[in-house]
This record gives sequence, structure tokens and C-alpha cells, in this order.
Amino acid sequence: MGLRTSDIVISENDKLLLSFYRTAEISGALFFGRLARSLPAGPIQNDLTQHFADESAHSAYWTKALNELGENPLKISGGAYQDQYIEAAGMPTNIMEILGITLIFEKRVIGQYAIHHQAQDLNPVIKATLDKIMNDEKWHVQWVTDALKVMEKDFGEEYITKTLRRYREADQEVYKKTLSEHGERVEHILKGRGTL
Ligand SMILES: [Fe+2]
Ligand SMILES: [Fe+2]
Repeated sequence: MGLRTSDIVISENDKLLLSFYRTAEISGALFFGRLARSLPAGPIQNDLTQHFADESAHSAYWTKALNELGENPLKISGGAYQDQYIEAAGMPTNIMEILGITLIFEKRVIGQYAIHHQAQDLNPVIKATLDKIMNDEKWHVQWVTDALKVMEKDFGEEYITKTLRRYREADQEVYKKTLSEHGERVEHILKGRGTL
């Protein structure tokens, strides 16, 4: 007789990591929501609005997953990942820089979820949630990449490349800091080693 979902107990590491994702998705929704509000009406504002609606839904999916696993989310402290980017690399000053920071952040998120997806003995509830979310995250990377391509004619390829490099460096710095804050409990999975 197989286990029912409600019988499955997840580890403390799982619980911490899922709670961390849940909070990061809320921060993402707020971050992209603020950016969307600052933009004039048009296709980019439309896409960003769909984008922050997705991030908000993702947070709700993690809450649901935790509940299905018989857990309540943990409160995760620490500043929003995205705000730390801005601290490290400065406030974006135009629409291209806004999309640049968005692209780097989204690539970090999708990379992290992909690593987790490869974990051995992945719990089916976690797997189903990752599958659903990664589908949206692929669209996030895609629309921002496309929009940046279109902007090459206004901003120049070199300026865009430089901007992406600046945010990539900030991302690496913030990621390292996050690892040290959350310690070795999540480090093995964040670094893609082994299972939870
Ligand atoms: Fe998301
Ligand atoms: Fe996303």
C-alpha cells in the first residue's frame, strides 16, 4: 500500500528551503510590482504585470505544497534578495537597466529550481510544484531576453552587455551572502550537491 501524501513527512531542510522559496517569491512579486507601477502603459508594463502576478501565485503554490506536506511555512528573515541586488549594484536608472536586473535575477531563480528538480528522491508534491513554477519562470526569462534584444537599437549592445555584467557580479555577491546567512542546512542543495 502506497503512502498517501498526508503521510509523507518532509525533513527540516525541505521545510526551510520551501519556506525560503515562498518568501523569495513574495519579494519577487513586490519587486516587479513596484517596477511595473513605475513604468508608462505599454507592452513592457503589461508583461511585467503578468510577471508579478505569476510570482505571487508561485508563493501561494509553495504555501499549498507545505500544507499538503503537513507543514506550515517558517518565517524567513533577512532582506529581500532583489533589494540586496540594488544595494550591491545601484538602483536601475532606466527601463533597460530594470530589465537587466530582472533577467539576472530570473536566471538565478530558474537555475536554483532546476538544481532542486534534479535532487534524488524528490518528493512528488515538491516535484509537481517545481514543474508548474518552472514553466512560468521560463517565460519570464524569455520575455525579458526578447525585450532587451529590441532595446539594442536604443541603448547599444555594449551598454546592455556591461549592465548585465554589473548585475551578474551583484548577483554572485548576494548569493554568497545568502548562503552564509542560511548556513549549511541549505547549502548542499543550493550548490547542487546531493539530496535534501
Ligand atoms: Fe517565481
Ligand atoms: Fe520569475
